[in-house]
Amino acid sequence: IKGNYFRGPNAPPKVRSVIPWVGYAVQFGERPIEFLLECKEKYGPVFTFTMFGTDVTYCLGSEASAKFWGSHNDILNAEDLYRNITEPVFGEGIAYAVPHKVFSEQKQMAKEALTKKRFEAYTSIIEKETLDFIKGWGDSGTFDFFEQMAKMIVFTATHCLHGKETRDNFDATAAALYHDLDGGFTPLAWFFPYWVPFPSFLRRDRAHVELKKRFGRVIAMRRESGKVKAGRTDLMETFMTVPYKKVLDGRTMTDNEVAGLLIALLMAGQHTSSTVSSWLISFVCTVPGLLDKLYEEQKKAFEILPGPLSMEHLDHMPLLHACVRETLRLRPPIMCIMRRAREDFVVKAEGRTYAIPKGSQVCVSPTVNQRLPDEWDDPLTFDPYRFLKKEDGKYVVTMGEHLPKGGRFKWVPFGAGRHRCIGFEFAQLQIRCIVSTLIRNFDLRLASGKLPAINYRTMIHTPLDANVVYKKRPEAVV
Ligand code: HEM
Repeated sequence: IKGNYFRGPNAPPKVRSVIPWVGYAVQFGERPIEFLLECKEKYGPVFTFTMFGTDVTYCLGSEASAKFWGSHNDILNAEDLYRNITEPVFGEGIAYAVPHKVFSEQKQMAKEALTKKRFEAYTSIIEKETLDFIKGWGDSGTFDFFEQMAKMIVFTATHCLHGKETRDNFDATAAALYHDLDGGFTPLAWFFPYWVPFPSFLRRDRAHVELKKRFGRVIAMRRESGKVKAGRTDLMETFMTVPYKKVLDGRTMTDNEVAGLLIALLMAGQHTSSTVSSWLISFVCTVPGLLDKLYEEQKKAFEILPGPLSMEHLDHMPLLHACVRETLRLRPPIMCIMRRAREDFVVKAEGRTYAIPKGSQVCVSPTVNQRLPDEWDDPLTFDPYRFLKKEDGKYVVTMGEHLPKGGRFKWVPFGAGRHRCIGFEFAQLQIRCIVSTLIRNFDLRLASGKLPAINYRTMIHTPLDANVVYKKRPEAVV
């Protein structure tokens, strides 16, 4: 990292590169976390660098990122940056392809299907799906854990969120279509318009049309059977029945919007949750004795209450929940969150004022906030107990707010403010149900004995070579 160049008295310091246009794209691509930490160390919490001709300004740490999280979408805007990538995958009429107030209502509707009441139904669905999946593993073996999680979570999430009919019809063709659609989230999509005929873009577009047709058939079947309000607990039902409140003249969603949102929400949760589950098992296997403690917790919970798995069981598993939160701290799937400044944007941190000009790309990083030594003690150590506090002799799971150290945005794996994740509770529930079911049935260890390296080449930081050796427990029910 060279130089310390200021554009105007209050502009963030610029990390100058000797390579014009490309700037720090290579360094950021190869070791983004270390690069950002080094820049913070040298330039302070707010700085700018160039990547492929774009100046990117990062605001790191609780104090410097606070205004980012609190900003209105008209000032720091999401769709200016995300639309080109997401619209071809999710379709028109939803998410970043519509004005923010419409997307806000769509998220509000989704939240109605992601309540504690519905979670009761989801818990046993996820346990059953997990059991069906792991039945195929046999008594022992080795596999790439991330691959297994990615496959399994499509089933658990589809069943909970898209409904039973979609799950029953989920076959190899549907999996291939999702794969092609997902292939649309390639780095090419950041730099080229959606219509360029790259093979991956063409596959993406075909998959989009085909998946929408499939959803269309299920929606039509539900409408025809007249059972729209028959107590179903999935998101499809909610989107089909709940009208917009303050926008679009209070109409209900079109089939196209319903299908698009179902695709979007599955994709928002699928890689994120499978990555977290894989890192969780990887961390747990590297801390001596932790897997045994988790297994003990499972046995106790099921001694107190007989199965199947329920929300009440999960209340008896605080250590498992704390492991999920600690994994989300050290390996948040979304490393950076971006906005376009539609107005000049001023940030104050560490006694300085930074004037970020209108038009800039402004970013924050959950990964960096969550591993700063001024926010966390011993930040690089996996210690789930930091998320537990004792109340009346019992462990209660926190988000780290009870700790004396750190600011308000030290733990932000699901973002914060207007764009905060609506799948926050569901994702944690899904991961806890899956991991609970796995460790009750299998003993697991990492084939290499070492924590896998981080794969920086994927948009979500997945584990590289997460090979896990598994062995069925004598008490297993599969
Ligand atoms: C937003 C992370 C699972 C739906 C976000 C954001 C983050 C995030 C960091 C903020 C993005 C931004 O500010 O630009 C995660 C993680 C997950 C997860 C780590 C799992 C471990 C899910 C699931 C769903 C979901 C399961 C759906 C059921 C959404 C939606 C938004 C969002 C709709 C709002 C986007 C916006 O308003 O711009 N998520 N997510 N996520 N997430 Fe999640």
